Amino acid sequence: MYFKEVFLNNFRNYEEAHVSFDEKINIFLGENAQGKTNLLESLYIMGLGKSFRTNKDSDMIGFEKDFARIRTVLCDPAEADTEKEIEILYQKEGKIIRVQGIKLERSMDLLEEVYIVVFSPEDLRIIKEGPENRRRFLDRELCQLKPIYYSTLGQYKRVLKQRNALLRIQRRDDSLLGTYDEALSEYGLRLTREREHFVERLQEISSQIHYTISEGKEKLEVRYEGDFLRGAKKDKKTQTEDVLSLLKKNREKDYSRGYTSVGPHKDDLAISVNGTDIRQFGSQGQQRTAALAMKLAEIQLIRQETGKNAILLLDDVLSELDEGRQTFLIEAMKEVQVFITATGIEEEILRRLPEGKVFDIHSGHVKRLT
Ligand SMILES: Nc1ncnc2c1ncn2[C@@H]1O[C@H](COP(=O)(O)OP(=O)(O)OP(=O)(O)O)[C@@H](O)[C@H]1O
Ligand SMILES: [Mg+2]
Repeated sequence: MYFKEVFLNNFRNYEEAHVSFDEKINIFLGENAQGKTNLLESLYIMGLGKSFRTNKDSDMIGFEKDFARIRTVLCDPAEADTEKEIEILYQKEGKIIRVQGIKLERSMDLLEEVYIVVFSPEDLRIIKEGPENRRRFLDRELCQLKPIYYSTLGQYKRVLKQRNALLRIQRRDDSLLGTYDEALSEYGLRLTREREHFVERLQEISSQIHYTISEGKEKLEVRYEGDFLRGAKKDKKTQTEDVLSLLKKNREKDYSRGYTSVGPHKDDLAISVNGTDIRQFGSQGQQRTAALAMKLAEIQLIRQETGKNAILLLDDVLSELDEGRQTFLIEAMKEVQVFITATGIEEEILRRLPEGKVFDIHSGHVKRLT
């Protein structure tokens, strides 16, 4: 699948815009705050139904406007160039998603249409920053690959919220807490199993990529660290029992802190190179290589799992990489549709990129340059 074109109405700083894309490489140049990331955001939303920057749908509506619309046409070369039209309408009351004119009941149904990998400077920092960034990375990828994960995650978060609310009120209610514990262990174990499985596959692919980028000098290891994990390999009944007793063991602590101290919402990815934890002790170069390797592994994983090519969004990231790492990224672009934004791209990099279209973005207006 690739994006053929997009139409924007009152979306962020775009009043009205129409862009026809290249099947492969699309480069958007422009000064700061002109709308480059906004354009990538509109494409990401078409794949996942929500933004990669915020959970607030109302932010998508242009200032002082009362609706926003994104419409896009996707083309599938694997199926005789069949075209598919997706439209999202944001209004104050909520959003409506239509695929081929038919309204989707649940936005998670959109997840099966398109696969998108976004890579921004924040992703380069995923190794050294806090665990919540690594959890977000896992959740984002798994939501795309497994729509069921998306609903389990929602269920888990709902129970967690209820449990935390109960821990904070003055009067203890151990029996209600016990009910929440059961739900939390069920959804939490499902999340844990999916995450662990995903990380095993990610580890295989990303360590190979990392090994190649580091010219055979570094062995990357990515492992899932989870509170519920100790139980995850046993039979289901024992797993549940283990998790329930873990929750019980932490009950007094949870009551005094007013929140749930164990569970997938606290988990992390352990990332090491040649045995050293690079979250804390990695050089900047190692951290960047590992982040790049994990991103590139995502593209391969999506292809293996779904048989489809992901669409790659590179927001301001090329100029942050040195030449060697750029080369790897450029190599990975050959088979997928890519959208690149930059305030300026050096001639030398442009020459190494495959042919495509170059656009200029200026205050919400997109103009084709070449
Ligand atoms: N809901 C909105 N309505 C109107 N304008 C908005 C809205 N949300 C953001 N903007 C404007 O969009 C601009 C930012 O756009 P964007 O993030 O795409 O910039 P950019 O071209 O990626 O810049 P940079 O190079 O700094 O990353 C800002 O000027 C901001 O005020
Ligand atoms: Mg930007």
